[in-house]
Formats: sequence, structure tokens, C-alpha cells
Amino acid sequence: MDLILVGPGRAGLALSLASLEAGHVVVGVLARDPEAARAAGDRLGGPALSWDSALPRADLLVVAVRDDAIEEVAHLLAGHAANIDGAVHLSGLKPASALSGLDGPPVGSFHPLQTLPTPEAGAARLEGAWIGVTTDDDYLSDRLFAFAASLGARPFELGDSAKPLYHAAAAAAANFTVTALAMSRRLFEAAGVDPEVGHPLIRAVIDNALEMGAEAALTGPAARGDIGTVRAQLAAVRAFDSGLGEDFAAMVRATARVAGTLDQIDEALQ
Ligand SMILES: NC(=O)c1ccc[n+]([C@@H]2O[C@H](COP(=O)([O-])OP(=O)(O)OC[C@H]3O[C@@H](n4cnc5c(N)ncnc54)[C@H](OP(=O)(O)O)[C@@H]3O)[C@@H](O)[C@H]2O)c1
Repeated sequence: MDLILVGPGRAGLALSLASLEAGHVVVGVLARDPEAARAAGDRLGGPALSWDSALPRADLLVVAVRDDAIEEVAHLLAGHAANIDGAVHLSGLKPASALSGLDGPPVGSFHPLQTLPTPEAGAARLEGAWIGVTTDDDYLSDRLFAFAASLGARPFELGDSAKPLYHAAAAAAANFTVTALAMSRRLFEAAGVDPEVGHPLIRAVIDNALEMGAEAALTGPAARGDIGTVRAQLAAVRAFDSGLGEDFAAMVRATARVAGTLDQIDEALQ
């Protein structure tokens, strides 16, 4: 496909690099900063485009700007997209209609359910990643499924109404896991123990949770309803840092809710 990229940030560049690898062509790049558009264009083999003129012919316009700027960009490009066959943004939260201001091509969203921290690492991670495809247009849907497959990714249909909860689920998977690891690291350090000793344990619990399901994989005092141990842990963490103690208590509560022991554990949290 011939692609136009708007917003050469982490996700846009990652998707563009993976697209080039798969044999697609980037026919132009738009960015707020003309220098950024030129640099990305040089890298992707397409020219920097202007916000003020009609976009060149393309199969897909990829609007890879941050979520809050999608509508604004669509309105800026209204009337310039007559030669575009379809347009997508990359947000897992915003509805497909966030691009309806383009006033022309069928619109949708194309959400890689993967972390794309840098263009290079992101491009590599798209292989095997699931991609949520949202659009009401059958032709665009077929093209987006084929596009995802060409990248070695796995497309799935994602309804507009499911997106807010779907996105919360993705944030819980990605961000809460990292936050729990950061909490653990601080506590190992506070105990004077090298946090690396926790790495085999961390890998094992993630494998267990994915293979057995979270409820079956949970071990530890909150899962057992071991109130005395939970109390002792909480007292130690609160004495070390009251803010961290508050976060730790919230995590214990969430863990007990998953384990079905909240009634018992609630008493220890008072
Ligand atoms: N990174 C990920 O892991 C990931 C994964 C899945 C989906 N996504 C989605 O991908 C989209 C982009 O995220 P990102 O992580 O790539 O963000 P990013 O690295 O911050 O890149 C955002 C790009 O959008 C541009 N931009 C921001 N506001 C703009 C505006 N008002 N007009 C024109 N361009 C504007 C930025 O340009 P400036 O440099 O000028 O600000 C930058 O080129 C988001 O919808 C996000 O939800 C990201």
C-alpha cells in the first residue's frame, strides 16, 4: 500500500518502518515541525508534505498523533484528503469517528496492542502483536486486516463501544505490571537485597498467570487470607515510607479481591 504518515513519533515511525520492511511505500510525511517531517521523510523514503495543499494519492492515511490531537488534525486536513482511500488513527481509546472531520475517506482505527517505546524496537515488536481494527466500512476493514497480516501482526475486530474498557485492560496489563515491579524494586533495595534476586520469581509468576489464569496463579499471604503476615508486611512498608504504604495497601486490597479473600484481609488493612 501507499501510506501517508501524519505524526512521526514512536508509534507512527514504528508502523512505517515495519510497513517498509513488508514492502509498502511511504509516499509522504506530515508533522507540525517541518524539520521533523523532512527528517522522517528522509528516513522513510517519502517527501515532507504541506498542511496547506491536497495530499497525494494514497491507500491509507495513518494519523499517528497523540490521542488528544486526532480530531484537530482531521479538521486541519479537511478538504485535502480527496485522493485518500482510507484513514486510520492508532488510538486504542478514541472512536473511529475521531477522524470524521477529514470529510472524505472511510475512517477507522488501527491499534497495536503492543508497547512501541522506540521506532526500531516498536517495528520489531509489531511482528506477532495483536492489532485492534475498528471501522464501519467493510472495504477498509478488509484492507486493514490484510495490512496487519502483511506486517506479521494479528488483526482482530474491535467495536467502538468496547474501546474504553479494552484500553483500560491494556493499561492494566502494561502499566500496572511495571508499577508493581517498581514497588518491588524499592522494597528490595530498602531491605538491602539486590532486586535482581527477584527476576526468576517475576518471570515465573507472569508465565504462571498466562498459563494457569490469574486466580489460580495467585500465591502469598493475601491469597491465603494470612492476616498476621499481611499486617506485618504493611507495618514494615508504612514505617519505611507512608506513601508507599498507601500504594501497597491498595495493591493488597486488589489482590485479595482477585483471590476472594477481601472479607478477611479488610481487617488487616484497617
Ligand atoms: N507508543 C506506543 O506504545 C503506542 C502503542 C499503541 C498505540 N499508540 C498510539 O499511537 C499514537 C501516537 O502515540 P506515540 O506514542 O507515538 O506518541 P509520540 O511519540 O508522542 O508521537 C506523537 C506524534 O504526534 C505529533 N503531534 C502531537 N500533537 C500534534 C498536533 N496537535 N498536530 C500534529 N502533530 C502532533 C508529535 O509531534 P511533535 O513532536 O511536534 O509533538 C509526534 O510526532 C497515540 O494515539 C497512541 O495512543 C502508541
